[in-house]
Amino acid sequence: MSKAVRFYSRSGNTKALADAIAAGAEVTALSVDDRSAAITEPVDTLFIGGGLYAYGIDKKLKEYISTLDSNRVKQAAVFSTSWLSKHALDILKNELKARGIAVLEDTCYAKSNPDESALKAAEAFGRNH
Ligand SMILES: Cc1cc2nc3c(=O)[nH]c(=O)nc-3n(C[C@H](O)[C@H](O)[C@H](O)COP(=O)(O)O)c2cc1C
Repeated sequence: MSKAVRFYSRSGNTKALADAIAAGAEVTALSVDDRSAAITEPVDTLFIGGGLYAYGIDKKLKEYISTLDSNRVKQAAVFSTSWLSKHALDILKNELKARGIAVLEDTCYAKSNPDESALKAAEAFGRNH
């Protein structure tokens, strides 16, 4: 099973979650603005996530999703952090589905800076999908 983890994080909370998912998936999490972030080889599961900012996701993450090719991504699994709202999960799901990419119902979410139990859950999320 090939896996990849991509994220956009302004203040590090979603990066912490992404790194834990990546540890479970045994890959390296890359920010969407990393020069190697493009998905050039087929992946079975793309974990993709970002923080919620004023009820939206960052433009860079939206733009990154618009570059994804459904022929190279078998399925996606979304994750997010925020103060309270899980809305970014729905935004991510909808953007991915609009690209023709299948999205898992199961998601990974943490309130702000993920604590130890959130990081453990994220690691299992990365391992199990
Ligand atoms: C400008 C700004 C707007 C935000 N808007 C929301 C919001 O509408 N709802 C919410 O629950 N959290 C909101 N947050 C909180 C962030 O989603 C939260 O701090 C998140 O963990 C940030 O992720 P990051 O550290 O990966 O950038 C906002 C934070 C900032 C800085």
